[in-house]
Amino acid sequence: MATKKTVRDIEVEGKRVLVRVDFNVPLDRTTGVITDNSRIRATLPTIKYLIDHKARVILCSHLGRPDGRVVEALRMAPVAEQLSQLINLPVSTVPDCIGPEVERAAGSLNNGDILLLENLRFHTGEEANDSSFAQALARLADIYVDDAFGTAHRAHASTVGVAKYLPAVAGFLMEKELEALSSILTNPEHPFSALLGGAKVSDKIDLMQNIFDEVDLLLVGGGMAATFLKVQGYEVGLSLVEADKQDLAHQILKTAEKNGVSLLLPTDAMVSDSISPQAAGEVVSIADIPPNKYLADIGPQTIELFSQQIRQCRTVFWNGPMGVYEIPQFARGTRVLVELLANLKATTIIGGGSTAEIVEEMKLTDKMTHVSTGGGASLRFLEGKSLPGVDVLLDKEQ
Ligand code: 3PG
Repeated sequence: MATKKTVRDIEVEGKRVLVRVDFNVPLDRTTGVITDNSRIRATLPTIKYLIDHKARVILCSHLGRPDGRVVEALRMAPVAEQLSQLINLPVSTVPDCIGPEVERAAGSLNNGDILLLENLRFHTGEEANDSSFAQALARLADIYVDDAFGTAHRAHASTVGVAKYLPAVAGFLMEKELEALSSILTNPEHPFSALLGGAKVSDKIDLMQNIFDEVDLLLVGGGMAATFLKVQGYEVGLSLVEADKQDLAHQILKTAEKNGVSLLLPTDAMVSDSISPQAAGEVVSIADIPPNKYLADIGPQTIELFSQQIRQCRTVFWNGPMGVYEIPQFARGTRVLVELLANLKATTIIGGGSTAEIVEEMKLTDKMTHVSTGGGASLRFLEGKSLPGVDVLLDKEQ
């Protein structure tokens, strides 16, 4: 991938700069309060740079999936308030993201002012990448900056369409994400291990195949381990086995062997007869999973085995919990390994989405080398696929 121009490569003084950010933050369902502001914090370097360089900042984002309708609970006002507190500056808002009133507000900004537009997904034109919607956004500004790494895998009007009408460069978060994630694909320090979990093997197959050339060790836990265990001839009780992915799982085991990659699966597990907050767990060897139980977490022996391996590594990538993390009695495998990563003297790169939320909830974000702000985007990038929101940005040599 060619290196992209960033805000450093373009004159921003006195210019209206449309910055696509990913302020799609988790909200408490009942109170509407933002429960994790890390995506907002992550954009501060770009916003501060633009203000310091006397730009007029127009931020835009989606929030949730309102499907082209105005949903009161998904207005950007709480985000503006949170940003204003974090940056210690006023952040003004408008009731829409395009149209005459928004154009007037954008046109009357002074150098250093910040305006946050209303939720882009209140318009169907956003997700449809409609060209007139993209042009209406472009009319607000002189320059486009994309700092929304978390949405870079979506070809929407504000991530792709608008770049046709304005000079388009990357923000610092976008730059940092691409550098951190590229480093594990192209030049990781060895030994390099990937710790993979989560519910489904289908979500991780393309990633595994794409990192085979670089990785030394694959440690597989979480629900996705069930399909691999089944392929190896173990009974996995009531756990989800993706029957249509068994051939691929088998191929992965063979490719690992051929490439000299150690692929380690759980040797014991915490099993339970239901996945509920009241359920009790029981530790069993992987060969003794009862037919009426689910895999709920990796067991203590596996935690020890994975820990020993991880301690030898110079680079570790982690994506996906080792068990049903939301239920405390099934969270131990994930928690122990996350703490280990946080204290490891190695490069630790954490995938986005729920994986990043766990690290943030454990207050360990600052102890990792990089925690991605993009769940789907980081996965897609590490699968070796292009990101439409990145492709449209100007290359350095342009
Ligand atoms: C995310 O949270 O992964 C991004 O903000 C993209 O959101 P989406 O999955 O609703 O497109």
